Amino acid sequence: MTIKKVLVIGAGTMGSGIAQLCAQQGLDAILADVSKELADKGKARLAKGMAGRVEKGKMTQAEMDQVLARITTAGDLACAKDADLVIESVVENLDVKRQVFAEVDQHARPGTILCTNTTSLSISAIAEGTRHPEQLTQMHFFNPPVIMKLVEIMPGKKTAADTVKAAAEFARALGKDPVVCHNEAPAGIVSRALGQLLNEATWMVEAGVAEPADIDKAMKLGANHPMGPLELIDLIGLDVHRAKMQTLRTVLDDPRYQHPKVVDRMIEEGRLGTKAGRGFYTYESK
Ligand SMILES: NC(=O)c1ccc[n+]([C@@H]2O[C@H](COP(=O)([O-])OP(=O)(O)OC[C@H]3O[C@@H](n4cnc5c(N)ncnc54)[C@H](O)[C@@H]3O)[C@@H](O)[C@H]2O)c1
Repeated sequence: MTIKKVLVIGAGTMGSGIAQLCAQQGLDAILADVSKELADKGKARLAKGMAGRVEKGKMTQAEMDQVLARITTAGDLACAKDADLVIESVVENLDVKRQVFAEVDQHARPGTILCTNTTSLSISAIAEGTRHPEQLTQMHFFNPPVIMKLVEIMPGKKTAADTVKAAAEFARALGKDPVVCHNEAPAGIVSRALGQLLNEATWMVEAGVAEPADIDKAMKLGANHPMGPLELIDLIGLDVHRAKMQTLRTVLDDPRYQHPKVVDRMIEEGRLGTKAGRGFYTYESK
């Protein structure tokens, strides 16, 4: 199956990046959110990011214009009828994701590949939202989707082998190097291992072991990590990070995955990371 048009649902951090990635690879992308205004905001955010790359000489203005021209926006999912493949990247909430796929069912053409970018929710549970669970698979991108080479693909219990194959082929067409998990496991490979590292860093903040900047500096200089764990949580979003830890804690029934209270406090204060302009650090451009 040739994928020419992709519907990306959720115009947040990941969805807008995935739409940009598709458009950069020459595909048409529809970026949808709960309102056209929010979808337009997502598009404006990725335009701003690209403008920065144009300024630095990493992209031409003509390339940027072409990418933007391939991305249309929508405030509802009626446009699913035009899509060959759907990537859901809305908030990490099972009910919301199921509802989204139920709505996609009302409009999508038969055979449309359905993908979820969930970090740690059960693929089989999300697939209960659609009448076509055999057509649904996880396709998990990494932040920022345009840059990061990996896509993790994980089937649910009812996912057809052809769907997994199509998703892997699509990932390769986007210039990615996918890994396919054999069966469902919460949070896949990278998020599970990395989540635990990030979680440990937040426990160090809770215990007052060192300033966040020094925890990050130590991991960069001492472990050769390109980014500190707390910088990375800011980029991922504290709410997204916490949701993942909560799922691991519950599904694996293991207290190792418990997050500290400092994370709850920061979320209550709206310190969600770069998307909110503040998290472990403050970001002046917001
Ligand atoms: N942030 C990361 O680094 C990262 C990486 C990989 C995967 N993910 C996963 O990607 C998904 C999105 O994460 P994010 O960081 O982009 O979140 P985000 O909060 O930045 O964006 C979520 C978007 O979904 C929209 N939305 C909510 N309900 C909707 C609905 N019913 N219909 C359409 N849009 C709706 C919101 O308005 C918002 O724009 C989550 O499942 C998350 O676990 C996140």
